[in-house]
Amino acid sequence: MITLVSGTNRPASVTRQVVDIYQSMLEQRNISSEIIDLVDLPEDFISTALYDNSGKNATFQPMQDQMLEADKYVFFVPEYNGSFPGILKTFIDGLSYPDTFKGKKCALVGLSSGVQGSVLAMSHLTDIFNYAKMHVLAEKPKLLHIENHLKNGKMVNPLFSSLLEEQIDSFIRF
Ligand SMILES: Cc1cc2nc3c(=O)[nH]c(=O)nc-3n(C[C@H](O)[C@H](O)[C@H](O)COP(=O)(O)O)c2cc1C
Repeated sequence: MITLVSGTNRPASVTRQVVDIYQSMLEQRNISSEIIDLVDLPEDFISTALYDNSGKNATFQPMQDQMLEADKYVFFVPEYNGSFPGILKTFIDGLSYPDTFKGKKCALVGLSSGVQGSVLAMSHLTDIFNYAKMHVLAEKPKLLHIENHLKNGKMVNPLFSSLLEEQIDSFIRF
C-alpha cells in the first residue's frame, strides 16, 4: 500500500489531477494506494489540531493515524512562491513526531506553472524529511508548465508520463 499525499488544500487543484493519474498508473500494476488530500483538512485545523490540541480534532485525527500507519508515501508538491505550500508544512507539523516518518521511505513529484517544476520546493522538502529520518527517492520528476501537459485529467506529454513510470519502477525497488 502506497499513501499518496496531495500537497495543497486548494480546491480543484492541478496537483490532485496528477495524483489521480499516478494512482491509475499504480492500479495498472496492481499496486494498491490510498489518497490523502490536504483539501480535506478541517477548516479549524490550525486552531484545534496543533500543539496542545494534538489529538483533539476528530476530523484530523484519522488523517494523522493514516499517516502514522503508512510506510511508503508519494508526496505531490506544487510550487508556491518558490517552495512548497505552507499548508503542507503545517500538516507535517501536526503529525506525530518522530514516529510518523522515522525509517520510512517516500518519493516526491513536483509540479509548477512556471519553469522550475518545483525543483527547489522538493529540495526544501527533502531536507525536512531527512531531518525526520525518512529516506527520499532520488528520482524527483519536475513537471514544469504543467497546465500545458494535461487535458481532461489525462497527461498528454509522453515524457512526463515516462518520468512518472520510471519513478514508480524505482520506488517499487526502493
Ligand atoms: C499561492 C500560489 C503560489 C504559487 N507560486 C508559484 C511559483 O512560485 N512558481 C510557479 O511556477 N507556480 C506557482 N504557482 C502556480 C502553481 O504551481 C500551479 O497552480 C500548479 O498548477 C500547481 O498548483 P495547484 O495544485 O494549486 O493547481 C502558485 C500558485 C499558488 C496558488
